[in-house]
Amino acid sequence: RAFFRPIHNTAPPSPTKRHTKISVIGAGNVGMAIAQTILTQDLADELVLVDAKPDKLRGEMLDLQHAAAFLPRTKIIADVDYAVTTGSDLCIVTAGARQIPGETRLNLLNRNVALFRSIVPPLAKYCPDTILLIVSNPVDILTYVAWKLSGFPSNRVIGSGTNLDSSRFRFLIADHLDVNAQDVQAYIVGEHGDSSVALWSSISVGGVPVLSFLKKQQIAYEKETLENIHKEVIDSAYEVIRLKGYTSWAIGYSVASLARTLLRDQRRIHPISVLARGFYDIEGGDVFLSLPAQLGRGGVLGVTNVHMDDEETHRLQASAKTILELIGQLEI
Ligand code: NAD
Ligand code: LAC
Repeated sequence: RAFFRPIHNTAPPSPTKRHTKISVIGAGNVGMAIAQTILTQDLADELVLVDAKPDKLRGEMLDLQHAAAFLPRTKIIADVDYAVTTGSDLCIVTAGARQIPGETRLNLLNRNVALFRSIVPPLAKYCPDTILLIVSNPVDILTYVAWKLSGFPSNRVIGSGTNLDSSRFRFLIADHLDVNAQDVQAYIVGEHGDSSVALWSSISVGGVPVLSFLKKQQIAYEKETLENIHKEVIDSAYEVIRLKGYTSWAIGYSVASLARTLLRDQRRIHPISVLARGFYDIEGGDVFLSLPAQLGRGGVLGVTNVHMDDEETHRLQASAKTILELIGQLEI
């Protein structure tokens, strides 16, 4: 193929390492933030973009390809035809309608379920062994829809869930205490949205359990302060959407961190949307919502038995109920 050879080969082609292929469906704000973070973090040998708009898609592909001299080597391809995704190790779905200012994520449901009927079956056909990572909103319900439409085992269908909300939470706590967010262990669980649950009772900073430390030192803390931080987490996306029209950078980093854990078999624990029935007494049907889960090359390896007090458990069950009611109205 090459018409001139700048290198004299001195060794036969090596059998090399395993080829890693990631497909991103939806080349909008979120899909492109994810794609660019994956490229800069050297997570894939091949990156595929799929979108319904051919010109936008080709423009985004060329723009990324033109950064080749500054990035780790990755083959970047794009097409409107799902055949291009064939054999992907990870498929990340970001396609779909997004919220206008003030609109809830749940309001997007019917529009995005309809789109998923044209997205998930071809992915399941061309990538039967892939891990499906859903980002489109409402992410918990669409992860359930993707699980049903794909026929995949539940360990290979994941929603980005509250990995993002937990980062917002850690940022706000770190800011409050003037520490590094990476030293704050804190989870938001449940719905990625308005009924999410903050697990205050298990928060630690540098290994120090915060609430019991405050109690032991007889330092008064007001429940209201804690509620306000959680409220700020819930309001975060609404505020960014009001200000810039959409959210993108934080979800880009959040999803790239999930891609790294999954494809490099890091066995790290992330709060992400998983099939939650049976955990923490969540009953009433199959429901996807976020719980801290261990992830690796096989997808979801397990769900963490994190400490929750009674109030947190009840709030989680209420969040599950909110999602289940909407799942009950779907015709899948
Ligand atoms: P966007 O409008 O910028 O992009 C959506 C893209 O989907 C467009 O390029 C569009 O052409 C494409 N698309 C539409 N139908 C398609 C189809 N059938 N096949 C392929 N592509 C199709 O929107 P955005 O800001 O990128 O947001 C995308 C989704 O991500 C929204 O649902 C949004 O709510 C969600 N989101 C989720 C999180 C999260 O934490 N889970 C965070 C941010 C945004
Ligand atoms: C988020 C999106 C909108 O940034 O779900 O939280």
